[in-house]
Amino acid sequence: MTNDLRSQAEESMESTTSMSLDMQEKLHQELDGAGPDEATIEQEEARVKAAEDASLKEHEGQTPIIFLDDIKVTFKTRTGSILHPNLVHAVRGLTLRLWPGETIGIVGESGCGKSTTANVMCGLQAPTSGKVYFKGKDVTNRTAADRRTIGRVISVVFQDPATALNARMTVHDQLMDPMIVHKVGTPEEREARVHDLIGMVGLPESALDALPSQLSGGQRQRVAIARALSLKPDAIIADEPTSALDVSVRAQILNLLMDLKKELGLAMVFISHDIQTVRYISDRIIVMNGGLAVEEGTAAQVFNDPKDDYTKLLLGAAPSLLHPDLSEQEMQNADA
Ligand SMILES: Nc1ncnc2c1ncn2[C@@H]1O[C@H](COP(=O)(O)OP(=O)(O)OP(=O)(O)O)[C@@H](O)[C@H]1O
Ligand SMILES: [Mg+2]
Repeated sequence: MTNDLRSQAEESMESTTSMSLDMQEKLHQELDGAGPDEATIEQEEARVKAAEDASLKEHEGQTPIIFLDDIKVTFKTRTGSILHPNLVHAVRGLTLRLWPGETIGIVGESGCGKSTTANVMCGLQAPTSGKVYFKGKDVTNRTAADRRTIGRVISVVFQDPATALNARMTVHDQLMDPMIVHKVGTPEEREARVHDLIGMVGLPESALDALPSQLSGGQRQRVAIARALSLKPDAIIADEPTSALDVSVRAQILNLLMDLKKELGLAMVFISHDIQTVRYISDRIIVMNGGLAVEEGTAAQVFNDPKDDYTKLLLGAAPSLLHPDLSEQEMQNADA
């Protein structure tokens, strides 16, 4: 490789890690012809705030499980100098309330800040500014006790079940583990719970003796979901829970999550870059772009009457593998 080529490659690598927001902006400018002007951004903000206020009114008297109040998260990347670090504004001012029993879908393209938001919600990431309330209590500074409480009430299901499970522990022990760590129940109660859990996610009792490597991807994700449910959480945060799975089992896992949330009255935050999947599962949808919420509303509002240009762009993107007929319907709506 010549020096010239190498520096070009380095430059492009650097820009994908540290300048991805700029690149996104550029991409959108190309897609839209021009970037959003200030007036558009103000309109977006006003609409999102109105939607948030409407849901606040609807749930008057209730306390949200999670309340993110104007959260910003900025990362320093290693590419800048010590005095002038490059900054990535992953989340740029997001306000969101998760109500008991509600499913919020967060949708947006890669790098728009979905996982960062999820990590703030479950206490894995501290916000750079803004406040995090957990059932009304300010947990922005996340003491050890806060984190334990959050861990009991909120569970996370990750994209890749392999990372969530310990390769050397049997399924039985994986399901037992959170209850032991949080000192929940007597040994007999824990054992009974393990057997309940495996049934809840539709796996046979024999799966309890298996190691994760002996299971298929879909079965592993079922185990990860069972583990997430072991402490009877109030809410589950599912960050792209089906993206790493074979297409044929995606719908099964989605249906399992839908059934469980109904059966157990769980609140859920469902994160995906596939707007059709999010629509299928969510009561309320938040569309993120470049670290900001650009649209918020009920699934029907966002789909039937998208206000934001970026949402329209997402809706016009590739038809869903799960629900090709839905997107056809959308196209007819758009044509009409
Ligand atoms: N620990 C970190 N250090 C530096 N930058 C980070 C870190 N975590 C995330 N980022 C950057 O923050 C931005 C948002 O990342 P995030 O993972 O939240 O996106 P996402 O919407 O979940 O994307 P994807 O759909 O690909 O999972 C990206 O530009 C990413 O490169
Ligand atoms: Mg992510």
